Amino acid sequence: NIKACLFDLDGVIVDTAVYHYKAWKRLANEMGFDFTEHQNEQLKGVSRMASLELILGWGNVTNKTEAEKLELATRKNDWYTEMIGQMTPAEILPGAREFVQACRDAGLKTAIGSASKNTPTILAKLELLPLFDAVVDGNSVSIPKPDPEVFLKGAEELNVEPSACVVFEDALAGIEAAINGGMKTVGIGSPDMLTRADMVVSGLDKMTLDILDKL
Ligand code: G6P
Ligand code: MG
Repeated sequence: NIKACLFDLDGVIVDTAVYHYKAWKRLANEMGFDFTEHQNEQLKGVSRMASLELILGWGNVTNKTEAEKLELATRKNDWYTEMIGQMTPAEILPGAREFVQACRDAGLKTAIGSASKNTPTILAKLELLPLFDAVVDGNSVSIPKPDPEVFLKGAEELNVEPSACVVFEDALAGIEAAINGGMKTVGIGSPDMLTRADMVVSGLDKMTLDILDKL
């Protein structure tokens, strides 16, 4: 009954969190404060501007105008794009390419559903574009996860009904987005964090097509 697999990008296909962290940390440091890797966990799956708001809150920075916030986010993104510009296919997370390929070989449709506006760059650097029938990302979506828009758009582009879709996500907001869209969910990470997922695996290297049948 599963006809399509929709994948979040950051934290599922590739670990960009470390680059996001470095760039946001540099920005915070320039403003005179710091934040921990633990705090960075809260930024996973959160859009660029919403991430900035959280970080400004951690630094008790309350005096920024909207224009200044846009400038700060752009500065961070410039550093970030510099780093992801150096990425190679070696940075694809273990098992990710193999599992997506296995889905396709089995006749399932595949799509990316990500909040990131840098999705096209990342997929190109990783040479993964040919593996996806549809790519829905931060450039085409207006309402952030946990709203289901990103995944519903993906399902629509694949021409598959939501109930026949499985979403692979490392962020709680992403799992909730999929549930809100009426889709099945596989959490990537720890079961303690992703409590609402139908099942949780540590990475796509632990996924097989037989597991999909049990959802
Ligand atoms: C993903 C990441 C977030 C990031 C967001 C926007 O959801 O998990 O950490 O903030 O994408 O990314 P962008 O590349 O558009 O700044
Ligand atoms: Mg993610």
